[in-house]
Amino acid sequence: MKNSKIAGIGYYVPKNVVKNEDLARYMETSDEWIQERTGIKERRYVTKHEENNTILAAKASRVAIERAGINKEDIDFIIYATLSPDYYFPGCGVLLQRELGISKTEIGALDIRNQCSGFIYSLSIADQFIKSGMYKNILVVGSEVHSGGLDFTTRGRGVSVIFGDGAGAVVVQPADGKNRKILTTKLHSDGSDAEELAIINPGFHGGHWDEENIEKYGYEEASQEWGVPYVTEKMVKDGLCYPYMHGQNVFKMAVKKFPEVIIEALEDQGLAKENIDMLIPHQANIRISQFVQKTLGLSDDQVFNNIQKYGNTTAASIPIALCEAWEAGKIKEGDLVCLAAFGSGFTWGSALIRW
Ligand code: UT7
Repeated sequence: MKNSKIAGIGYYVPKNVVKNEDLARYMETSDEWIQERTGIKERRYVTKHEENNTILAAKASRVAIERAGINKEDIDFIIYATLSPDYYFPGCGVLLQRELGISKTEIGALDIRNQCSGFIYSLSIADQFIKSGMYKNILVVGSEVHSGGLDFTTRGRGVSVIFGDGAGAVVVQPADGKNRKILTTKLHSDGSDAEELAIINPGFHGGHWDEENIEKYGYEEASQEWGVPYVTEKMVKDGLCYPYMHGQNVFKMAVKKFPEVIIEALEDQGLAKENIDMLIPHQANIRISQFVQKTLGLSDDQVFNNIQKYGNTTAASIPIALCEAWEAGKIKEGDLVCLAAFGSGFTWGSALIRW
């Protein structure tokens, strides 16, 4: 059974820089509040009518494919993680296949809906496919366009200031030598608090048959003979189609689960936290990263953060950060790289890579 390796990596962020001060024109917030609570200074948003989720993903993918030294036709499977797809269905995997001009290869394309942990879940799946010998060049993508789905009024400020657009991609291949291999991946979830960080509307939940919700979501006015509509006028009017987050609860769980899942991966490989050369945490909040860094006793050189520039790009945050760290020479051959994420679901996971 061959291990897998990351053979090529790329990222793309839109040119459009949106600073904290720009958001303060639309809602009651300030550069000071956002920086102090999250570390974010600016984020990127797609250019209107020019870019969408798949286009960002294609731009990142082309770089990853070139750096892997293969042609796009060599890709034999696509795994695409996003929470902000272009369409409700079909998923972005097939759209990326078309955007890259490889529809005729008729390869499989899989969409992953694991939000902030989406890239780690995707990488883990790619790793298993490579180990089983089923595929040889898997394109793994995390891509998000949050800017189209945020509430830019004061009502939504607790969520909207955090998220940004961007994409990252890797090509996963069988490993050939001692170095450059994915050592292990760990995946977890606990659905008890699924609604603590979620967009539940539009959706087919039907208000969960709760009288209060049936009224809140406007199902009475929108009644139809069979089932309930997945979107109502009231949902749109009352701003119920935006993401909801109970920030403090998410924060508390994140700072617990990040170290846990990192230690789990290290112990699995007989390694210790001191062995980590570079930790790339999902970029949720600089304070979460700092907390994890402190808990593990890592130095500033052992943790890479770029949330200051891009905000939280959910499934894209880890591949973007991994690529930037690598391009900056902060990850060298033989280094032990640890990826870790926590987010909506709740889902969380880690990956240990010998670079
Ligand atoms: O990537 C997925 C996983 N997501 C996360 O890990 C996010 C985890 N949570 C967080 O990062 C933080 O909870 C937030 C950054 C979202 C919020 O920070 P916080 O320190 O937990 O603030 P808070 O929600 O407790 O709000 C504190 C105050 C409130 O005002 P009052 O009630 O104290 O008067 C909010 O209304 O700050 C207010 N507030 C804002 N003020 C200015 C909330 N958002 C803003 C804002 N600007 N953008």
